[in-house]
Amino acid sequence: SSYASVDKEACIACGSCNAAAPDIFDFDTDGIAEVIYEGDNNRGITMIKQEMQDDLQDAIESCPTNCIKLAQVPFS
Ligand code: F3S
Repeated sequence: SSYASVDKEACIACGSCNAAAPDIFDFDTDGIAEVIYEGDNNRGITMIKQEMQDDLQDAIESCPTNCIKLAQVPFS
């Protein structure tokens, strides 16, 4: 299990994360990515289920600015 959140200051709106994991990442009105999984609202407090981990890993690896933060415990 893990938790994810986008560092929106570092996101360049490339879109790769949404392509890799559309159930986890979507964009705000400025095109900046955020975690939308299960209503997380980019807080990084919603545990991402095991079956989503491959998509999540693909998204992290695809991000050119490494701004998708991952943790084993909730962010706040
Ligand atoms: Fe932004 Fe990285 Fe996604 S730059 S749009 S968080 S792949």
